[in-house]
Amino acid sequence: MLGLGRTRTQTRSSRSMSLGGVIHVLVTGGAGYIGSHAALRLLKENYRVTIVDNLSRGNIGAVKILQELFPEPGRLQFIYADLGDAKVVHQLFSQNAFDAVMHFAAVAYVGESTLNPLKYYHNITSNTLTVLEAMSAYGVPTLIYSSTCATYGEPEKMPITEETPQLPINPYGKAKKMAEDIILDFHKNSNMAVMILRYFNVIGSDPEGRLGEAPRPELREHGRISGACYDAARGIIPGLKVRGTDYKTTDGTCIRDYIDVSDLVDAHVKALEKSRPGKVGIYNVGTGRGRSVKEFVEACKAATGVPIKVDFLPRRPGDYAEVYSDPTKIKLELNWTAKHTDLQESLQVAWRWQKSHLNGYDSSLVSSS
Ligand SMILES: NC(=O)c1ccc[n+]([C@@H]2O[C@H](COP(=O)([O-])OP(=O)(O)OC[C@H]3O[C@@H](n4cnc5c(N)ncnc54)[C@H](O)[C@@H]3O)[C@@H](O)[C@H]2O)c1
Ligand SMILES: *[C@@H]1O[C@H](CO)[C@@H](O)[C@H](O)[C@H]1NC(C)=O
Ligand SMILES: *[C@@H]1O[C@H](CO)[C@@H](O)[C@H](O)[C@H]1NC(C)=O
Ligand SMILES: *[C@@H]1O[C@H](CO)[C@@H](O)[C@H](O)[C@H]1NC(C)=O
Repeated sequence: MLGLGRTRTQTRSSRSMSLGGVIHVLVTGGAGYIGSHAALRLLKENYRVTIVDNLSRGNIGAVKILQELFPEPGRLQFIYADLGDAKVVHQLFSQNAFDAVMHFAAVAYVGESTLNPLKYYHNITSNTLTVLEAMSAYGVPTLIYSSTCATYGEPEKMPITEETPQLPINPYGKAKKMAEDIILDFHKNSNMAVMILRYFNVIGSDPEGRLGEAPRPELREHGRISGACYDAARGIIPGLKVRGTDYKTTDGTCIRDYIDVSDLVDAHVKALEKSRPGKVGIYNVGTGRGRSVKEFVEACKAATGVPIKVDFLPRRPGDYAEVYSDPTKIKLELNWTAKHTDLQESLQVAWRWQKSHLNGYDSSLVSSS
């Protein structure tokens, strides 16, 4: 790709970016759940997007939908590559003048991380180092990094602010914390604009039904609660298992903070717009409101209209009772607040997509080709 000149990228500050020219964003992991939603939003806002993904977990179907929506030459480029391959990553950066990187690509299941920690340190920590080295070598000025509330571990005091000590308790959280540390240390001697976003539990999907969450079937066992809701409603699994009813919470089940993916990608766009050379911003991205697993299950039943069977089981080791964010900082500094805070509505939007895509993106490909 020969679009933008190298020198222009190196001298452009993020402030001047917004004044003229098309901003070219590299979205790593853009075939995945959150990355594809972010790419859609960026394209809608007239950014130029390059997705890099090796499809180990993402869906080419999501990329195809984006390509159909934005067919104009130069708007969206998809590159099939593995971020673990430093040579290929350097080549990618040498052939494209990116203005910013949104780095979503990762493996992201807590349970799997305890079973296969090296996979996590490799695909999170080591690959982030590779991306950062390439950004540094080619003068890419802005990084927006996908981090997680798992970097906080199990703090005593709720809500979690950005000042809450980070004491992760599983390899997933540790690998993300290490990646944050690498980024922050690098940043001390660089003029890069850095935004680190620590997401809470992400749910929902595109309200217009173009994209959804479609993890590989084999990941179901490690899955997230939202996926379990749809799978139970579809009868793929026999029901929902609520693990632990004797926590010190209002109804005895765990408390989590569920953030809608539309709000989450909005936070990324605001972070990109407000990023400044030499500055770093670290933000929690959550609603600030905790919901119990029981509340979630009720919302799931109402959203899907299916009388899902619910089993109440003993606690699962490693689960913490209560996690929710204090989103004050991101509101003050980025003027961002969560707008889609009705759990049932978020699940309903996602359920609509799930119901019409029983084979994930495959079914939509069959019907459209
Ligand atoms: N989903 C959540 O609730 C949540 C919460 C906190 C943080 N996050 C973070 O958000 C980011 C995106 O998560 P997601 O839920 O969209 O996951 P996902 O698995 O749907 O997407 C990740 C994408 O990265 C790609 N990828 C992985 N390794 C790669 C490699 N080596 N080279 C190229 N591509 C590679 C996968 O193919 C996939 O498309 C991750 O960094 C994750 O840690 C997610
Ligand atoms: C994706 O990348 C990983 C390294 O992160 C690699 O081990 C794996 O084989 C790749 N998968 C595909 C389908 O290319
Ligand atoms: C992650 O890294 C391991 C090597 O530790 C590799 O085998 C695997 O395929 C990589 N990618 C994914 C998505 O698991
Ligand atoms: C903050 O965002 C709201 C919309 O959510 C907008 O109306 C308002 O003008 C913004 N304030 C600033 C200072 O940008």
